Order: sequence, then C-alpha cells, then structure tokens
Amino acid sequence: MTVIRNATDADAAKLAEFGARTFYESFAADNTPEDMQRHLESAFSPEKQLAEIRAPDIETLIVVDPEERWAGFAQLRAGKRSAAVPQQGSIELWRFYVDKAWHGQGIAAGLMEAAKRCARRRGAATLWLGVWERNARAQAFYRKHGFSKVGSQVFVVGSDPQTDDVMLCRLT
Ligand SMILES: CC(C)(COP(=O)(O)OP(=O)(O)OC[C@H]1O[C@@H](n2cnc3c(N)ncnc32)[C@H](O)[C@@H]1OP(=O)(O)O)[C@@H](O)C(=O)NCCC(=O)NCCS
Repeated sequence: MTVIRNATDADAAKLAEFGARTFYESFAADNTPEDMQRHLESAFSPEKQLAEIRAPDIETLIVVDPEERWAGFAQLRAGKRSAAVPQQGSIELWRFYVDKAWHGQGIAAGLMEAAKRCARRRGAATLWLGVWERNARAQAFYRKHGFSKVGSQVFVVGSDPQTDDVMLCRLT
C-alpha cells in the first residue's frame, strides 16, 4: 500500500537523490557517461530540488510506502510552452518517474490520476508532456492514460540534443 503526498522542504535531499537515480537508471544505457553526468549535475542537487518544492509554479508529488520508501514522483510545472500545445489553460507534466521495482504494479496509474487532479485544481484544461521518442514504454503508458502525440521538441541531455514527442491530454 502506498500513499501520494505533496513534497515538503524536508524532502529536498531525497528528491535530488531519487530524481538523479531514476533518471540515471532509465537513460544511462542510451547516453554517454559525459552527457549523463552533465545532465545530472545541471538538474539535481538538494538546493535545486528545494527551490522546486518551494516554487509556486511547480507542484511535486511523491509516492511512498508505509516505511517511507519512495516508489515514484511527479512534478507539474506551469508557465512553460511548446508548439502545438494550447497557450491558455495548459500545464506541463514535467517529470514522471516510478522506481523500476514498482513498474507494472499500478503505482504510475495512481500517480497519473493525482497529477491530473492537481492540474484540474490549478484550473488547467490540458496536461502536456515531452517524452523521448525512443521511450516506448512511457509512450505506451501515456497513451493508456489519454495522451496523444501532437508534436515534437528538443530536450538536451548534456551536449546531446534529443527529440521528444510532445503528448497532450484534455482534462475536461
Ligand atoms: C513510464 C512509467 C512511469 C510507466 O509506469 P509503468 O508502471 O511502467 O506503466 P505500466 O506498466 O502501467 O504501463 C506500461 C505499458 O507499456 C508496455 N510496455 C512495456 N515495455 C514496453 C516497450 N518496450 N515498448 C512498448 N510498450 C511497452 C507495458 O506492457 C504496459 O502496457 P499494458 O499495460 O497495456 O501491458 C515507468 O515505466 C517509468 O518510471 N519509467 C522510467 C522513467 C520514465 O521513462 N519516465 C517518463 C519520462 S517522460
């Protein structure tokens, strides 16, 4: 049994560690060690995640089991734009990660429902995201949850400009 809660300041260091580890485990095999290292350094540190947790335009949800072991996390970010995403009423599902041990067990589905509730609460009519064009499992998961591809955008990992599919889900 797991619960989903909003992150607090006390979660910053764990969020940095968990976020870096799940990114590494998901994508290290498909990136050079240098690009991976540069990305992890630019995206994750206790200070960076503390700032994210405190930012009013970012919402951070974490999934924990009864022993407070982390199973996953999601972050929504308002104010970012991408071509093919409506300018008004859209919010980005910025990060969405479930620890490998919990894949295929419904944790991600619960986290997605919580993310959609969060987006609706913030008045959004559309939830959108970027997912690596080579990340077939995540794309399949997002399609199951009402997202469809509307375009592409560049996501730079270290020095490597990669192509993300932009997917969108209408919340109404
Ligand atoms: C994306 C993620 C959150 C989905 O959670 P999950 O528990 O794995 O999701 P599910 O098992 O419910 O759904 C995945 C679907 O992809 C399918 N799948 C698995 N491997 C696949 C592959 N290589 N290609 C295509 N589909 C695949 C599964 O069969 C399943 O579909 P089904 O339920 O119809 O059988 C999780 O896999 C994850 O955290 N991955 C690593 C991080 C990541 O990629 N995050 C997204 C960044 S944009």
